[in-house]
Amino acid sequence: DIPGIAARCDVLVIGVKPYLVGGVLAEALPSLKPETVVISIAAGVTLHDLRDAVQGHCHVVRVMPNTPALVGAGVFGIQEDPALPKDVFAMILDLFGLLGSTIVLPEKKFNAFMALVGCGPAYVFHFMDALAEAGVTMGFTRQEALELVTQLVLGSAKLAALPGSHPAILREQVCSPAGVTIAAVNHLDRTAVRGHLIDAVLAAYAKS
Ligand SMILES: NC(=O)c1ccc[n+]([C@@H]2O[C@H](COP(=O)([O-])OP(=O)(O)OC[C@H]3O[C@@H](n4cnc5c(N)ncnc54)[C@H](OP(=O)(O)O)[C@@H]3O)[C@@H](O)[C@H]2O)c1
Repeated sequence: DIPGIAARCDVLVIGVKPYLVGGVLAEALPSLKPETVVISIAAGVTLHDLRDAVQGHCHVVRVMPNTPALVGAGVFGIQEDPALPKDVFAMILDLFGLLGSTIVLPEKKFNAFMALVGCGPAYVFHFMDALAEAGVTMGFTRQEALELVTQLVLGSAKLAALPGSHPAILREQVCSPAGVTIAAVNHLDRTAVRGHLIDAVLAAYAKS
């Protein structure tokens, strides 16, 4: 009952697949009030598309989330919009701040944010899955390997999040001269893993 829900809501989060957004908003349109805030999280649906869809009936906001929002650790890119009243914007920041961290972005950076952070969990999970495979290859059960890798990533992310931390310095700290870690890092560099990661993000950016 989209019109019924829209009539009862101050804030309407449109969380359907991007190709459905137009149809859902067309159904909601008669119920939208001037003070209603419609928030779209759809990839590829621009603020311009949203404004067209609601035909000036209400406020529209474009937000790009990522799936760690499910555990309160999402990162939300919110597109800046001088047309949006300041108190509405503050409410949006508060709302999404409950589910993680927020960043306000100009339109020209929105797709870059999507390629890096919206798609980003897939890169991290891909990397974790590969490390777990290495663990299994060396004799850990899959469950042990996944638990170990998850703790590894959680702990490393906490270190990287400390004020003044830098991943390059943190990596140097674990690479002892002639040690085992530098041998692994050498292999990553010889096989251009950094370059491939950069190209992967740029492939997502090119498609967005
Ligand atoms: N998943 C992500 O990481 C991510 C990140 C950034 C942005 N997004 C955006 O989030 C949106 C949803 O993606 P998703 O992966 O969460 O998709 P999803 O799992 O397929 O969820 C779509 C939801 O929309 C509902 N729905 C479908 N048609 C509807 C209709 N006509 N009216 C009302 N509700 C309807 C579905 O309900 P039923 O379950 O009842 O079918 C379902 O709950 C997309 O626009 C996507 O671009 C997702």
